[in-house]
Amino acid sequence: MMALIVLSNFKCLRDHMQSHLFYDLHLHLLPGLDDGARSLEESLAMARGLADSGFGFLAATPHLNDSQLLDLKRISETQRLVSQALDAQKIALSLDFGGEYAYCARLLSDLRNRSLVTLAGSNLVLMELPESFLPPQICNVMFECVQAGYRPVIAHPERCEYVLKNSNKIQELSEYGAAIQVSFRSLAGLFGRKIERAAWRLLEENTADLLATDAHRVEDIKHVVQPVLARLQQHFGEAANLWLSRNPQLLLKGA
Ligand SMILES: [Fe+2]
Repeated sequence: MMALIVLSNFKCLRDHMQSHLFYDLHLHLLPGLDDGARSLEESLAMARGLADSGFGFLAATPHLNDSQLLDLKRISETQRLVSQALDAQKIALSLDFGGEYAYCARLLSDLRNRSLVTLAGSNLVLMELPESFLPPQICNVMFECVQAGYRPVIAHPERCEYVLKNSNKIQELSEYGAAIQVSFRSLAGLFGRKIERAAWRLLEENTADLLATDAHRVEDIKHVVQPVLARLQQHFGEAANLWLSRNPQLLLKGA
């Protein structure tokens, strides 16, 4: 019974928002680059599930950190391969790429060298905060990013324990020019009730700028993406387009 309710809400959301294709600027769809999709087949199944859920644009964002040397060339070649397979399979999606920076030496050195991997060729730089603490220099890094012409996008701040205890910190990061991106996985409760509540609160209080799936596996489409889309419809109706379609497009344009 519950599954039927979820499915009907999900269809309702998709129908209501047909003219607004969703944008996902954070997911791990490229095969074999990180802890996301494990094969081209899985990438294509994820893409198909997202297209069926109403998404029209994806920027795949493999993890960028100090423990793996994932360079721009390898990411772009993999994206090209997957894009060709999407065309061959007639999956109606635009696929681009970026990266998800951990707060690490590589982030700081790419910033210094003005060689940060950005989202879909825009000036947006996706970065996640450590889960247990907030780096004391974080506002300086935000400031330096903006000074260098980048716009930081903070991935799932609701998962940072410090931010959970000091909610005004998100406002401060916004004031330094960061865009706030809430994750479907937090909204689905994958990291516990406390983080789930914090994630919904960021939407209710209009602190969030963007939503992103952060999908890692094909199972995430059924167990995370579709149930969260249904709940978004219940809570916000078409207003959820702001985070799924309008703001991502504006941000990609540099607005
Ligand atoms: Fe991620």
